[in-house]
This record gives sequence, structure tokens and C-alpha cells, in this order.
Amino acid sequence: MTIGLRRSALYMPASNLRAIEKARSLPCDVVIFDLEDAVAPEAKEAARANAVAAVRDGGFGDRELVIRVNALGTPWAIDDLAAAAESGAHAVLAPKVGDAETVRAYHEALGKAPAGTGFWAMIEAARAIFRLDTIAEAMAARPGCFVLGTNDLAKEMGAALTVERTPFLGMMALAVAAAKGHGLAILDGVYNAFEDDAGLERQCAEAKAYGFDGKTLIHPRQIEGANRRFSPSEAEIAWAEAAVAGFAAPENAGKGAIRVGGEMVERLHLAQAERILSVSGNALG
Ligand code: COA
Ligand code: MG
Repeated sequence: MTIGLRRSALYMPASNLRAIEKARSLPCDVVIFDLEDAVAPEAKEAARANAVAAVRDGGFGDRELVIRVNALGTPWAIDDLAAAAESGAHAVLAPKVGDAETVRAYHEALGKAPAGTGFWAMIEAARAIFRLDTIAEAMAARPGCFVLGTNDLAKEMGAALTVERTPFLGMMALAVAAAKGHGLAILDGVYNAFEDDAGLERQCAEAKAYGFDGKTLIHPRQIEGANRRFSPSEAEIAWAEAAVAGFAAPENAGKGAIRVGGEMVERLHLAQAERILSVSGNALG
């Protein structure tokens, strides 16, 4: 089974042709062509055309290609959604999703997109936080992913966005629970200080510990750190190999819980161990 990695998801303004060209050779797992906040109003039409042309022209290898559209209700949304739906992009990312009704409106607008086209939702509106479960539930119709938008959350809440992100830790855990509870993937928000490698590593390690699949990024410099931090560590791989071997041993046949090193490993951990080994295989490839 191949598991698509989403360790590093690099945003770029789709108005920036140089950035798009660079993305064809950068080692990020996901490319997000932004039509929304990174693009000035006068550049919206050109950005849309660039994103569609980039997906059509290809050259991105295995990278997952995502188009972030302008929100429903803005002057650009309908044309963005129509263009993204027909573009062949792997997924469409919608900004500022606040409730399940909005998800249904996007699904409706994406009606013509192939069934495999994903719908991803930015979790960045304060009102979304108490609706995470119903938002995730409404996303069942297409392959889905939550993308945390910490800049917008911080702005709306008046919360400080430090490297520690203390005001956001609770909602990060809730967002992961909602996403995973409904079979969605989830990506962490960006780290604006893109020259602070240590800060990025800290946020990646933390996000991985919370259960995030990867991190959204704003600069190529951040890719390598995110890929490393979201790949299984040597210790995790060793644990997974030991767990798989432990349950395969004849003396453990029929047992639900065994000892691996100094720890209990239950059969429920086996799926986790197999996932780690599968992901680490892909991370090397
Ligand atoms: N994607 C692809 N390439 C990028 C990139 C990105 N997000 N950000 C920078 N680059 C490229 C630059 O084009 C430049 O390439 P070159 O040297 O071959 O010309 C190289 O990386 C170095 O860029 P640098 O000079 O360090 O950055 P900058 O000052 O030009 O730009 C930002 C800084 C923050 C404006 C830019 O990184 C950016 O636009 N990031 C994405 C913003 C975004 O999409 N936000 C929306 C979601 S939060
Ligand atoms: Mg935003």
C-alpha cells in the first residue's frame, strides 16, 4: 500500500511564476498554488490562469497539487472553483471554512470535479473551532484534509503567535481529533519566521507529536526540516520493526499484548507499526 506523504506543503502565490517554476524541483510533498491572501486583487485573474496552466503543464512528479481558491462570497470564488474543478489538481483548498453548511456549499460548487478530487478546508476562523466535528463530518464526500491557519486565527482572536503557540495548543489537539475521527488528514499552520530553522523544527516536532501529518510552509528553506521531522525517526522505525516481529513470533500467536523491550505492545499498535514502516519506506523512496 502506498501512503502519500504530506510532510511538507509549500504555499506559493500563483501570481509568482518564478516560484511555480521552482516548485517543480523542490523536495516538498505538496504544492499549494494560492489564489487567495498571497495574491493582490489586481493579480487574481492572472494567478488563476497561472495555477491552471501549471497543473496542466505538469512536471511536478509525485507532488500533490492543490489550488487554494478565494472564499465563496468574494468576487473571484465562482471562477476560481470552476477553474480548479476542471484543472486536474489533486485537491481544492477553501479558506475560512466556518461551518458544515459552508462545506456543503463548496461541495456543490465542485460538483463537476472528478470524484477523486479532494476538498481541503482551512481551519482559521474562530467560529470553526466549536464546529470542528460537524465540519469534518460534512467533508466525507471527497478525500479531505484540514489545514490549520494560525495567522488568521491569531488575528481574529487577538492571540499572540509565538514559536511556542501556547494559545493554540488546545485547538490543535481538538482539530486533530476531529480530523482523524472522520478519516481526514491534517496539516499544521505556517511558521512565518522562515529564517529560524530551530523554531521551525520545534513546531514540526510538536505538531508531529500532536498527530499532524505535516506542516504548511511559506519558503523553500523550510522543506528539508519539515520532511525530516515528519518522517519516522530511527527510534520509531526500530520500535515498529520490533512490534511487527514480536507479533509474528510463533510463541506470541494468539496473544493480544506482548512485551517489546521494556514496553507493552498491544495488537492495536500493530497497524500503527505497519504504517510507520510503510511511511518510512516511502520517505526513503
Ligand atoms: N515557493 C517557491 N519558491 C519560493 C517561495 C515559495 N513559497 N518563496 C521563495 N521562493 C524562491 C524565490 O523565488 C527565490 O528564488 P530565486 O533565488 O531562484 O529567485 C528563492 O526561493 C529565495 O527566496 P527569498 O529571496 O529568500 O524570498 P523572498 O524575499 O523573495 O520571498 C516571501 C519571501 C515570504 C515573500 C516568499 O517566500 C513567499 O511569497 N512565500 C509564500 C507566501 C504565501 O504563499 N502565503 C500564503 C499562505 S500563508
Ligand atoms: Mg488565511
